[in-house]
Amino acid sequence: MKKAKILVLAGDGIGPEVMKVSIQVLEQAIRGSGLRLEFEEDLAGGCSIDKHGIPLTEETLKKAKKVDAVLLGAVGGLAWDKLPHEKRPERALLSLRAGLKLFANLRPAKIIPALLSASTLKEEVVEGIDLLVVRELTGGIYFGKPRGVKEIKGGLEKKGFNTEVYSTSEIERIARVAFEAARARRKKVMSVDKANILESSILWREVVTGLGREYPDVQLDHMYVDNCAMQLVRNPKQFDVIVTTNMFGDILSDEAAMLTGSIGMLPSASLGEKKNRFGFPSGMYEPVHGSAPDIAGKGVANPLATILSMSMMVRHSLGKDEVARSMENAVEAALAKDYRTVDIFEEGKKRVGTEEMAEIVSREL
Ligand code: IPM
Ligand code: MG
Repeated sequence: MKKAKILVLAGDGIGPEVMKVSIQVLEQAIRGSGLRLEFEEDLAGGCSIDKHGIPLTEETLKKAKKVDAVLLGAVGGLAWDKLPHEKRPERALLSLRAGLKLFANLRPAKIIPALLSASTLKEEVVEGIDLLVVRELTGGIYFGKPRGVKEIKGGLEKKGFNTEVYSTSEIERIARVAFEAARARRKKVMSVDKANILESSILWREVVTGLGREYPDVQLDHMYVDNCAMQLVRNPKQFDVIVTTNMFGDILSDEAAMLTGSIGMLPSASLGEKKNRFGFPSGMYEPVHGSAPDIAGKGVANPLATILSMSMMVRHSLGKDEVARSMENAVEAALAKDYRTVDIFEEGKKRVGTEEMAEIVSREL
């Protein structure tokens, strides 16, 4: 098998430290699998602003388009918080998503038995949660036009505006990802919209319903987003795959993440239509957590979300399901042996730092 090319954008804050140790775990995991990886590093986010004045250069985007998959750590930090919004580190994410046409964002939220008590919800509510948020990532109000802030009433007032917009084909392709994902899981799709108010949601519901006829083996239901926010804390086990818009998915995926106890645990994958040199979707893989500047450089950050993001990369962009599963099992085994980083620490458990946690996971492989 030829070498897979991976672009590593470790980013800011805890990004570089979790990325470094997680790559060691990944290299250990692929040993003997026939998979060979070649890493190239570059800058995105605040570190790119410091060096080039912008969060993502054309050149870096070009590199990202050429590789088989992109690994992203985290972007952002206090140093860049005062910049105008089009220059902020987070723009790197949006440019990568748009530039690589990564329209499908997969955010699994699965409760790990050893972490049951880490959730702020009652154990009987969260026990057994295993859901997947499929968030549309390159459309909707995040990118819709017109957008802006303009003066009105002869400059007496200002008006800020954005546009929520979805076309039939945009809805269909994200819904297809959800139906396909559901087929490999418990065969249930919950499409989330606000069709009682928004025209774009009425179309969303119509198109998802139409596509659902191609998947008679998958149970399709619809829910308004406010109800879904409530149901996620009331009875999260009812959900298998949730498919929704960019904005609703942003909000609901944070809520879903917190059900599992720590946002420090959750991976994500962003996939496009383009296939990589192995015939799998090229994608970008990143932990759901941010750059956590308050703990950066202290060696205490949780690397597990990054390790799990790498396992998603191995599964979706490199087609090695068994390697992905071995990484997930190793993470669960480390937790079952009571090792905890500070974000998931509880009395009576063994507190470890970033490097140690990664070593323990490696040993479990
Ligand atoms: C996320 C984040 C991003 C988003 C921000 C950092 C641009 O919240 O990935 O969920 O809103 O999409
Ligand atoms: Mg978010």
